[in-house]
Amino acid sequence: MLDINKIRNDFPMIKNNPDLIYFDSSATSFKPQCVIDAVNHYYTHDNSNVHRGDYYLSYKVSKAYEDCRKTIADFINAEDVRSIVYTNGSTSALNLLAYGYGRKYLTKGDVILLTYTEHASNILPWFNVAKETGALIKYIPLNDDGTFNLDKYIDCFTDAVKVVSLPYISNVLGYVYPAKEIIRIAHEHNAIVSLDGAQAVPHIRVDVKDLDVDFLSFSSHKMLGPSGVGALYGKYELLEKMDPLYYGGDSNARFDKEGNVILKKVPYIFESGTPCIEGILGLNAAIQYLNEIGMDNIEEYDKELTLYFIDKLSQLDNVTIYNKKTTTGIISFNLNGIFAQDAASYFSSKGIAVRSGNHCAKILHNVIGVNETIRASLYLYNTKEEIDRFIEIIKDTTIEKCVESVL
Ligand code: ALA
Repeated sequence: MLDINKIRNDFPMIKNNPDLIYFDSSATSFKPQCVIDAVNHYYTHDNSNVHRGDYYLSYKVSKAYEDCRKTIADFINAEDVRSIVYTNGSTSALNLLAYGYGRKYLTKGDVILLTYTEHASNILPWFNVAKETGALIKYIPLNDDGTFNLDKYIDCFTDAVKVVSLPYISNVLGYVYPAKEIIRIAHEHNAIVSLDGAQAVPHIRVDVKDLDVDFLSFSSHKMLGPSGVGALYGKYELLEKMDPLYYGGDSNARFDKEGNVILKKVPYIFESGTPCIEGILGLNAAIQYLNEIGMDNIEEYDKELTLYFIDKLSQLDNVTIYNKKTTTGIISFNLNGIFAQDAASYFSSKGIAVRSGNHCAKILHNVIGVNETIRASLYLYNTKEEIDRFIEIIKDTTIEKCVESVL
């Protein structure tokens, strides 16, 4: 059970914005005080670079920075801390994988399996890699409601399939795809699996060992941590075979004027340049906070709120819901006859923050039949009272009020 009053008290954004109902945590989450303190502490007490300074402060910060690798590894149950590559977020992790692995190993005629639910970050890098290598993109057919169909997935396999790259949780539909089965089936066909975990890692317990997943990408800012950092988890033996995306300081052991370069080992080979140190230290604090509350409790609470929201929304006759079976805090819907962005602007005038549009999943209309939706996304600090207030506003929403609010 969550202590919701204590949790809400931990978030300055909630205290400082008493009239705001924030339902956009899938875009970015609020940060608890302990995360803000960790970032602040670095700048006010420990400001120095990592891995570069031969003095106490730099050693101290380097240790704290490296300790976070262990925190992340434990959080997703990765056995080897070297499997955690720091990145700027999910997008850079997915790009690193596509270019570092896909561009190196895919050849003409190889197949990359994706779905229509992909976020741009899990599709555009693969488009480029396919163009450069002659590999082919194929889409796994989903059920009409966007849920995953294992039979249709199995039918996609030929010897040409080399990569399966999917969201663990769709950022628009909120469905948890059956990752363990997906991975088992891919491995039976000698394909590797990359999961875009941007929406999953903040909301459900993710266990890379149990899943046997090859790669997992995620972002700090959606899981209560600072923006600008994230991670790519990869099986060590696969990371070892990959090329870096960037070259520069800290990723090389030595080089000479003839151009002979000796690069460092995984994960440092992928981490050129001064990183977002404060972001990693903040992420460490965020994971400790999530651990204290318990991922099982968070998942259960997300589910309770989501089912409550869907139930209330289903009782309204002016609403179309696109993902009635969701449980992970993401609810996508439209008010019939009202443009999603107009409705979102009207909601904003009433103190409600939701996202509207295609949510960076620009080919999802092939599944749900519309380009634009309103997306409410919930997290551990939201309440049923907030949902009730939103439902009352939705009930009272008309096209005239929406148009007026955008004028
Ligand atoms: N990927 C983020 C979202 O789904 C920004 O809103």
